[in-house]
Amino acid sequence: MHACLVLAWLGAVVAAAMAVTLGGEAPVWGTYRPQVYVGMRPRIPDAVLSGLAYFGTRSLADIQHLRHTTKDDHGVRYYRYTHHDGRTFGRQEIVDDFLNYHLEISFVLSGAHPDAQQAGSWAIRVRGTVLNDELPAKVSLIYYLGRESSNAHLAYELGKHGEPTVVGSHPALGAFRLRFGDDGTETHYAGLKIPEDRVWDVHDPLLETFTERANTFHQRGAQLGQLPPATLLQLNDVVEDQATLFALQRSFTGNFTLDIFLDGEPHGSHLDAEQLTVALAQRREAYEDEFRAKFPLRDYADDDVTIARELTAQIVGGIGYYAGSSLVDRRHVSDAGLVLHEPSKAQPTREPARELLTATPSRSFFPRGFYWDEGFHEAHIAVWDPALAIELFASWTRLIDDDGWVAREQILGSEARSRVPEEFQVQFPQFANPPALIMGLDAYLSELPQEDTVGGVGGQAPFVLQNSSHVNLATLYEPWRRHYEWFRRTQRGQIQQWDRTATSKREGYRWRGRSTTHVLTSGLDDYPRAATPHVGELHLDLHAWMGAFARAMHRFAQRLGLVDDAREYARHYQAIQANLYDLHWSEDEGMFCDASVDDDDESYFECHRGYVSLFPLLMELLDPDAPALGKTLEMMRDEQQLWSPHGLRSLSKQHPLYGTDEDYWRSAIWIPINYLALRALHRYAALDGPYQADAHALYTELRQNIVRTVLDEYKRTGYTWEQYDAATGAGRRNRPFAGWTSMVVLIMAEKYP
Ligand SMILES: *[C@@H]1O[C@H](CO)[C@@H](O)[C@H](O)[C@H]1NC(C)=O
Ligand SMILES: *[C@@H]1O[C@H](CO)[C@@H](O)[C@H](O)[C@H]1NC(C)=O
Repeated sequence: MHACLVLAWLGAVVAAAMAVTLGGEAPVWGTYRPQVYVGMRPRIPDAVLSGLAYFGTRSLADIQHLRHTTKDDHGVRYYRYTHHDGRTFGRQEIVDDFLNYHLEISFVLSGAHPDAQQAGSWAIRVRGTVLNDELPAKVSLIYYLGRESSNAHLAYELGKHGEPTVVGSHPALGAFRLRFGDDGTETHYAGLKIPEDRVWDVHDPLLETFTERANTFHQRGAQLGQLPPATLLQLNDVVEDQATLFALQRSFTGNFTLDIFLDGEPHGSHLDAEQLTVALAQRREAYEDEFRAKFPLRDYADDDVTIARELTAQIVGGIGYYAGSSLVDRRHVSDAGLVLHEPSKAQPTREPARELLTATPSRSFFPRGFYWDEGFHEAHIAVWDPALAIELFASWTRLIDDDGWVAREQILGSEARSRVPEEFQVQFPQFANPPALIMGLDAYLSELPQEDTVGGVGGQAPFVLQNSSHVNLATLYEPWRRHYEWFRRTQRGQIQQWDRTATSKREGYRWRGRSTTHVLTSGLDDYPRAATPHVGELHLDLHAWMGAFARAMHRFAQRLGLVDDAREYARHYQAIQANLYDLHWSEDEGMFCDASVDDDDESYFECHRGYVSLFPLLMELLDPDAPALGKTLEMMRDEQQLWSPHGLRSLSKQHPLYGTDEDYWRSAIWIPINYLALRALHRYAALDGPYQADAHALYTELRQNIVRTVLDEYKRTGYTWEQYDAATGAGRRNRPFAGWTSMVVLIMAEKYP
């Protein structure tokens, strides 16, 4: 047969073997451990997990730079997904200058065979290319499977050709076998006994294993310095009694390819190297086509489109599954909520185990669920794959407790907890966070073809998408109503107590849990507020969020045909809009402000030009002909205030606190807020009114500034960043930050759900 024909034929065979129902439920196995460079696990609690650890073997000292969890590793220039569909295919690059390797790591996943009681199969290919041929390049790779509980069974077993493999089973996964591709290279193995709740942490156990091995050689009189490092940094080919972690190892010099297969048994995909090559090439091409179709970016150069694709792959590749208990301090505090328990004096109790499928802000620095970030994440993911986005949204919805509260940081289980400093581990049920998560639902609804929405009177009709995600919108509604009411009840502000006149006696809001310098709950941490916390404070940003929340709930209720509820939300919305002017508009300053209460018990405006002042615009609470809209646009465009060539500054350049102290939300440019600004400008530019032309001009210019800033820094540094310097446009703080910073792609594609 002609080579092309062979490939085409193989392609068809492979496509059949790897068939999955796209648009359905997210697969059981996935790269749901974004906190490690490479790792697959099922989204099932107390099952198994797997991952890759690797290190140089040029000298024994190389072991000090064992690569496993994603952190600021010495010598790693960057690591990033270039492709990831969130389901069955992904490709990652790691440029490791210290190890002298460029690593290309791809995976494909296949659904379960219809006749098999198993969760599918997958394959990972690691291709190592030496960066500099003049320098030594020797590397060893270990792939492990660990069991998290005795529900899972793992054992070492010789494979068909007498090669080391690991077999396993779990009630929800069926039986499976882990093997390396057959390339004639020697495979070593080990079974280590590690506590089940620590199998995610292979770093220390591996180092101990190698140290013991060196000791054994030493005791036998060997000169360690004369042995090849790869001989010492080698698994012992021994399985310990009651082993919980099983590992396979191969070592290479120069360029190499390592294929890692997990076959569902007995009817797994059982791919060989050639079939894997074909499957990866096909998936890659299909992914690139699909991206171009979903994100039309005709006005951009090819390299910019490539970056947009990579950023989408990175937010999708950042999806993780977490399960376990969290720490919550449920002691009662007074309703005023000013004197809250200090985190350092927390008395947490361990909550029952929960699970969460979520995108993550940063694989290295924040590999866990963050409530307000997640709304932005889902807006992006919904454009790529609405069914996946609604699954994440549903997973978060299941965390809303009986009271209506959901913790703003989700630190579930010991692996997640290991990445959080102790003082931030405890959550408090009085604390909120911007209700941005509702954007996940909004984005999903707006991406959904109209005919797919089955509303049904009274919300009775199930909402089913292509026989798929099993997400029934009606079942999400009650928790969300509870959550909404929790906000209205617990974050309520005082109006009459301070003789404030307002259309509604009800609609005023205050973040609970602030300190003199920080309102962590607002998400805007050190943004300036009243210098002395006061129970009479009213927070503009929360007021605006609550308006947007009421509007989103209105849309949700309408979608389900809940007429009375929809009417109630509409009333809330109108009252919030009216009170926005009554409680927060300072005629003297010509801007919206926080309010507080002074020593004479008089209410006054607390005004700080910056992101907070923009919130009525960001949440689109202003009428297109409102003079307040004109004033807000002026402040925005003022180069002495918020406008910079790189985007909107978080605080006015004229503010006495600009760039001071922690300088977190006191100067830098943040992409999610700029996204909200662009979304609002885009809408106001489409509405008739005296500010339409201004909105359009600002939109065009701001969009250009943001896109150039993020893309140029990606080209320069290989990463997206948590924030950008207002003076230089340089990335600041944590990276990669492929959570909400990746929303630059929506800005490029002008997707504003
Ligand atoms: C390693 O692979 C790269 C890329 O394919 C190639 O350019 C280089 O010559 C290879 N090095 C060796 C020693 O084969
Ligand atoms: C739809 O889902 C049901 C239940 O999960 C399953 O039995 C059925 O095979 C699915 N149908 C299709 C066409 O995938």
